Amino acid sequence: MKVSSHAVAGMLGSWQEGPGPGHRRLSDRLRLLILDGRLFIGAALPSERDLATVLGTSRTTVGAAYRTLVEHGYLATRPRARATVRLPGDPPTGRRAAEGPSIIDLSLAAPSAPAEILHAAFATALEQLPRHFERHGYDRYGIRELREAVARRYGRRGLPTSSDQIMITNGAQHALALLARALLSPRDRVVIDHPTYPHAIRTFLDVRARPLPVAMTPAGWDATQLREAARAARLAYLIPDFHNPTGLLMPASVRRELVLPCPTIIDETMAELALEGEAPAPFAVHMPDAISVGSVSKSIWGGLRIGWIRATPALLERVEQVRPATGLGTPVVEQLATAVLLDERPTPRRETLRQLRDQRDALARALDEHLPHVRAPQPAGGLTLWATFPEPISSRLAAIAPDHGVAIAAGPRFGIGGAFERNVRLPYTLPPERLAEAVRGLARAERALTRGATGAHPPASVA
Ligand SMILES: Cc1ncc(COP(=O)(O)O)c(C=O)c1O
Repeated sequence: MKVSSHAVAGMLGSWQEGPGPGHRRLSDRLRLLILDGRLFIGAALPSERDLATVLGTSRTTVGAAYRTLVEHGYLATRPRARATVRLPGDPPTGRRAAEGPSIIDLSLAAPSAPAEILHAAFATALEQLPRHFERHGYDRYGIRELREAVARRYGRRGLPTSSDQIMITNGAQHALALLARALLSPRDRVVIDHPTYPHAIRTFLDVRARPLPVAMTPAGWDATQLREAARAARLAYLIPDFHNPTGLLMPASVRRELVLPCPTIIDETMAELALEGEAPAPFAVHMPDAISVGSVSKSIWGGLRIGWIRATPALLERVEQVRPATGLGTPVVEQLATAVLLDERPTPRRETLRQLRDQRDALARALDEHLPHVRAPQPAGGLTLWATFPEPISSRLAAIAPDHGVAIAAGPRFGIGGAFERNVRLPYTLPPERLAEAVRGLARAERALTRGATGAHPPASVA
């Protein structure tokens, strides 16, 4: 969406005041507007000439400010098109990573499909499908069979749940987008773990809310800090189970004492990926008012695009009201197949968990061997390691890594304000030999960086 030069000028206010060169003041102010969510992701900024005219400054000043934002990853440019707002660390559009099999894609944390059980579940789903032919197929809450299966699943995990507490969505990301629309207004503050899942940050910025980051400690969550921050917030969003990106599990002692003074979304997308011991009980066992978001994307397969919200029927009604703008329902066959899969115990299968454990260990060994100075604590579950480099090189590393055969998501993608420049998220969702090859590529990229060779790709493509 285009933003007019007058709108940008209005948001900028008195940017001319203050020390330093004008282009620096302008780029700083624009960056703040982006971080604040006032200039939203994807917004197309005015041309340099138009903005310069309205601001009463030179085109050189605006051009230099835009270039700084491009260099730091806050703007993307294409020939003959307006510059568009982005966040540092967003993957390059067009996904260079997927361009060829020669580049190993470590930017996504998603396992492949368990082929046979999916085939069998879809065969059963097709047999059941005719039951639905007499109905219209538009079901904003999801089909009864799946809502009941999700509710039964919560029950088996220790949280009695009825099907009217469940709304089926097109994945957990869709659930978050719906909740953001239903619960947030522009300028509302949302407590987030810092780092956190990047598309959640984007979702909150898209509704012009303002993320309020609460730093995670090496052990995870600081309940006091969360409570303090939540006093000023409209909503909190936490990933206590095998957190993305750190893989941390919120300790039972913190769970028991965590009561926040604002509605709290608990993202349980990774909850069932326990690699050591049992999966934790659903968070709402401790926090009955929690708004839980779940998904089968990681425990079964992302291609199903099935997730859900567990909340009070009253809140689900509010969500149902905003749903049409994002789609009118969820495909019936996928829902039927997912219901079959959820009723088959256990998912994820033991075999999937064993494979993930082997891959996690292979990745750790490869890091030990090829990047021994990188710190990467071993998570007890989930799909990713959160690696810390000694130097703040993450964005530059992500920019040149494809030249060395691997694509990664830079640390700043998982935070706001350019944080996490020392970090890289490394998923272990590929076979051990591919992971080892990827780590060798990363080590080559790091050596190239420290030698001063910055590769062929401009930082704007990754930032
Ligand atoms: C923490 C978290 N929440 C939500 C999602 C999105 O899940 P889905 O694929 O079900 O939309 C992901 C995907 O990586 C995730 O890691």
